[in-house]
Amino acid sequence: MKRQSDPVGAPRKSETKSTTEAAAYDGDIALGQNAVFRLAPLDGPQGLLAFVDPERTVVIADKRTRAFVPEGLKKAHLALVPRGEAAKTLSVAEALYDEFFDRGVDRDFSVVALGGGSVLDLAGFVASTWMRGIDFGYAPTTLLSMLDASIGGKTGLDFRGRKNLIGTFASPRFVLADTRVLSELPATELAGGFAEAVKHAIIEGDEHFATLESALEESGIPRLDVLPEIIRRSAAVKARIVQEDPRDEGFRSLLNLGHTFGHAVEAAAGIAHGHAVAVGLVTAFRFAERILEEGRAARRAAQDGARVAALLRRAGLPTTIDEAFAETFSGTFAGTFAGTFAGTAMQKAPPSARSEAQAALFADKKRRGKTLRFVLPRGIGAVELVRLPLSSIADFIMEAP
Ligand SMILES: NC(=O)c1ccc[n+]([C@@H]2O[C@H](COP(=O)([O-])OP(=O)(O)OC[C@H]3O[C@@H](n4cnc5c(N)ncnc54)[C@H](O)[C@@H]3O)[C@@H](O)[C@H]2O)c1
Ligand SMILES: [Zn+2]
Repeated sequence: MKRQSDPVGAPRKSETKSTTEAAAYDGDIALGQNAVFRLAPLDGPQGLLAFVDPERTVVIADKRTRAFVPEGLKKAHLALVPRGEAAKTLSVAEALYDEFFDRGVDRDFSVVALGGGSVLDLAGFVASTWMRGIDFGYAPTTLLSMLDASIGGKTGLDFRGRKNLIGTFASPRFVLADTRVLSELPATELAGGFAEAVKHAIIEGDEHFATLESALEESGIPRLDVLPEIIRRSAAVKARIVQEDPRDEGFRSLLNLGHTFGHAVEAAAGIAHGHAVAVGLVTAFRFAERILEEGRAARRAAQDGARVAALLRRAGLPTTIDEAFAETFSGTFAGTFAGTFAGTAMQKAPPSARSEAQAALFADKKRRGKTLRFVLPRGIGAVELVRLPLSSIADFIMEAP
């Protein structure tokens, strides 16, 4: 099956306005079903109080993100959950149901999720199942959650070691992103979110991609003043794709760009998701270069792939499978193969590590039979859904740099 990615198209005019002041209010993006995406200060006139009544609100946050609760919402009930992925469990969800019960939370209440993607996934799940679903909104506080996890109407909990095995399709009434909170986000988290922005830009095209190329400081960190524009554009790309395929039945798979190789590397190397996505994006281009027979098409994939790799590298992200496994060792992440790399700065990933990545690919829940739906990047602004033999992708994991 082949399908052109064209409907994503160029951004609409209202989405291209440049925002130079961090978090300045610049109009809403429609998310469908009367929901809006807004960039504005949490405590300003366009902030959380424009959406909820503090007397009838439960704010769900973690120990870090509770610091961002705006003054006007201090009267609301605050429910604290564990930080990071540890929040996404049935037992944490049950503890929240207990709090809802004890506080008499009913259909007149709103839930506000204040945190990264983990808090959003958990809070969205609990709100969308409590009394068969009460009103909720997201105030994402990481770059990844602003441009990815807050959009798309999927909530999720992990179960028996599998990510997002339990969840609902449910959309928040609003998403309110205040980019000022990103100033203290660790650089590695920023880079991970940036990788997903690069993914969106490859799907969308050159203009968005060029914005990202001009957004990095010398240090590789995205400039705070450009983040609102990056988030706005990225969110619009995801929102448009999701609206075409709200229940994830086909077209939405475009958002899997870089994630087939990425997930395999993530599982085997144990590195952060966004870092694995960076490797996955570049590997997908290399793979495209390999399988596109026509000389010109292969050259375009090679050229644009090199441009993508250069940008991700500047952002401090790994771009090869070897670098992914080297990152495992570097101490930031404790993965299975840390020992293999002991004492070396950069080495070739051993075949055993790559076999582990292959095994992860075969185990992927989205695999059906001997073929796999793959998002093939022919170039920046030219991605395509194709069905390919699983073996061709698995083989490439052994060969790619
Ligand atoms: N529902 C979806 O469509 C979707 C899409 C992508 C990802 N996700 C999910 O998102 C989760 C990952 O989310 P994430 O990357 O946002 O990380 P996270 O939510 O796991 O948070 C990571 C850490 O950052 C801290 N933090 C949050 N905001 C901060 C800030 N402004 N400054 C300093 N520290 C801050 C948190 O306290 C936490 O310790 C995964 O569980 C993933 O499955 C969901
Ligand atoms: Zn991702």
